Amino acid sequence: MTSPRRTFAIISHPDAGKTTLTEKLLYVGGAIHLAGEVKARGANRRARSDWMKIEQQRGISVTSSVMTFERDGITFNLLDTPGHEDFSEDTYRTLTAVDSAVMVIDAAKGIEPQTRKLFEVCRLRSVPIITFVNKVDREGRPPFELLDEIADVLALDVSPMNWPIGMGGEFEGVMDLATRRISRPEGDSRTFQGTVDEAPLSDRFAEEVELAEAGYAPFDGDAYRHGDLTPVYFGSALKDFGPAELISALAAHAPPPRPQPAEPAPVSPDDGEVTGFVFKVQANMDPQHRDRIAFMRLCSGTFKRGMKLTPTGHGKPIAVHSPILFFAQDREIADEAFPGDIIGIPNHGTLRVGDTLSERADVRFTGLPNFAPEILRRVALKDPTKTKQLRKALDDMAEEGVTQVFYPEIGSNWIIGVVGQLQLDVLISRLETEYKVAAALEPAPFDTARWVSAANPADLKAFTDLNRAAMAKDRDGNPVFLAKSAWEVGYVADRYPAVTFAATRER
Ligand code: G4P
Repeated sequence: MTSPRRTFAIISHPDAGKTTLTEKLLYVGGAIHLAGEVKARGANRRARSDWMKIEQQRGISVTSSVMTFERDGITFNLLDTPGHEDFSEDTYRTLTAVDSAVMVIDAAKGIEPQTRKLFEVCRLRSVPIITFVNKVDREGRPPFELLDEIADVLALDVSPMNWPIGMGGEFEGVMDLATRRISRPEGDSRTFQGTVDEAPLSDRFAEEVELAEAGYAPFDGDAYRHGDLTPVYFGSALKDFGPAELISALAAHAPPPRPQPAEPAPVSPDDGEVTGFVFKVQANMDPQHRDRIAFMRLCSGTFKRGMKLTPTGHGKPIAVHSPILFFAQDREIADEAFPGDIIGIPNHGTLRVGDTLSERADVRFTGLPNFAPEILRRVALKDPTKTKQLRKALDDMAEEGVTQVFYPEIGSNWIIGVVGQLQLDVLISRLETEYKVAAALEPAPFDTARWVSAANPADLKAFTDLNRAAMAKDRDGNPVFLAKSAWEVGYVADRYPAVTFAATRER
């Protein structure tokens, strides 16, 4: 028997405390022994590869990794999502590979823009969310205001699981609403060191707790797993209030690996044959070898090292001799993996984001989306004899999912699209080092893009004929409408009701 799996990610706005919480979760889970090792490991990894200089310069992590730990007989796979403002499609796609997420909110700030974007992707896939309101050891906004904001902005029922007894200078601990027990801060640093009591609350806090319990929905596991309700924990990652409770909550309530949407039929984790999909490809981990690691989420079957898997659509089976499981401290060679686990498969560019890998030939996972780019740029080649190399580079990177590329119907100015600024730097850096193409990015006359389709081909043709100057094709030849603004998308969509303007496209 294998242990149950919980495959999850942490979503947050930069600075809310994701790194600190990750560290504490790994610490509670026994995967690391000293807080601070997550950052140290990042620094080591950075030394490894050239183009990750960008990471170093900006002090951020471009790459998502996977951390695994075990507690109480459960295996937790924590998928890291890059947390900087300049996040990429990888951040979004990582969320297609998890079964649940923890949303970290800064108690002083509430829901911030990036939290909200990531939340929307979770909603697209009905990924259930546990909310962690962090930094209650500092002055924050009133807990009622925060709960109401989460409920309003995200349109979710909220269910407080515990209650902060004061914040900032007044912080006296956190009360578990089910047991009425209060975890208290100790010593000068006011960290949690294990002291829990049931001392009565002052009138003021007793009243708050009463209002909190009366005012919000009680926790309902099914509503949470359907993505309709979020349990809310208040705490402080830094001072150790909350991490252990979050792990217990994930163990008790978060869904185990779920059936995944696929053709011809959804794939259940109990299906005997091995299937999985690639949600991320990381190139050039080692510039000497030009190798790539494809990150595959295992959806069914027991994977064994050396197994032959076929990428649907490209035919040839590949033998997976050196799969990698990602542990907190090291990468280890995996002999076996189970549904919900992530496997790193080294390859030389054969595996693409969105690929299905399986023992059977007839399955294909669906629903791994491309997201409408939020930044579009025109690519200007410095040496016109390098057109061919540029096209190859742009196609390669589009296939890897690093950037999207659009070939306008009119003119020869290729347009690339990204969801985060950082991808632009990665693109230029890789064009130079990997493809020896010097290029610059210039402002494009467009601001966003939508994939267009229509039930009746004549409607699509009528639309594209009239808007030729704004039409392009993506890497796979799908028609794309390039718009000057989100407002224009709305305007045009109103005028052409028979045409669908999609902000995501399944790969
Ligand atoms: P991120 O990954 O979401 O960007 O956030 P990170 O964990 O790096 O935390 C951002 C800052 O917030 C850090 O401070 C961190 O120490 C602080 N922080 C995280 N959790 C808590 C908490 O529960 N309470 C308090 N008071 N602070 C918290 P920094 O000064 O920017 O970085 P550092 O130099 O301390 O690492």
